[in-house]
Amino acid sequence: MKERPLIIVGNWKMNKTIEEAVSFVHSLSSKIVSDLVKIYLAVPYTAIRSVAEAAKKTSFMIGAQNMNEEVVGAFTGEVAATQLKEAGACFVILGHSERRHLFHEDNTLINKKVLRALSCGLTPLLCVGETEHERKSGNHFTIIQEQIQKGLLNVPQGSSLLLAYEPLWAIGTGQHATPSIAEEMLAFCRSCLNKLSLSAPILYGGSVRPDNTKELIEQPDADGLLVGGASLVVSSFTEIIETSLTVRTL
Ligand code: PGA
Repeated sequence: MKERPLIIVGNWKMNKTIEEAVSFVHSLSSKIVSDLVKIYLAVPYTAIRSVAEAAKKTSFMIGAQNMNEEVVGAFTGEVAATQLKEAGACFVILGHSERRHLFHEDNTLINKKVLRALSCGLTPLLCVGETEHERKSGNHFTIIQEQIQKGLLNVPQGSSLLLAYEPLWAIGTGQHATPSIAEEMLAFCRSCLNKLSLSAPILYGGSVRPDNTKELIEQPDADGLLVGGASLVVSSFTEIIETSLTVRTL
């Protein structure tokens, strides 16, 4: 059995009403009893408070999918780290490819968010990943290294962090990375973290489904999975968690 923790994160993106979110938590908590897996749920801002309340008697970690890098002020429509904390979040996804590409967030901005999250006691889950074009032109290692180095600039040693490798060509496409590509990139992410004297659980994300969970979580450098679409339904998310647990406890 691996000594590193097993972490499964659900990223709900812009899905679920408060009622649906709370009912999901009740249903999932009745199915997952093992304490060998840490379950993180990145829920919409509007549901954080209710979901955190519903998850009080569970070991689930509740978090957000983004935040603003500033402390407070005139930033219409934005949400601050302290507000996330107050609502019950303990982690926040930062640098997700949808933020990078649809909302033009760059490494410098993401780094500010990472530092701000840490200063408020929120664990940042930094996402990195290359596009299909970057991979085809052989630039994927450079891109990932840059996203990690710039995203985690000035992060103190010993900080509580999570890192997810999510190739863009695998997100929401149904085309997950092959186990060998996933392992190669997860190991590379770990070497980048080592160079910064940082350590963090490293997750694979991108079209994780019940039927490909085993081959992905089996990889030596996979500490867990970041699940989008398949985390929206209790049955598929549970299957992913249970399959991962089985692989880990064999
Ligand atoms: P997916 O999304 O599992 O639906 O591909 C993953 C993610 O965007 O984090």
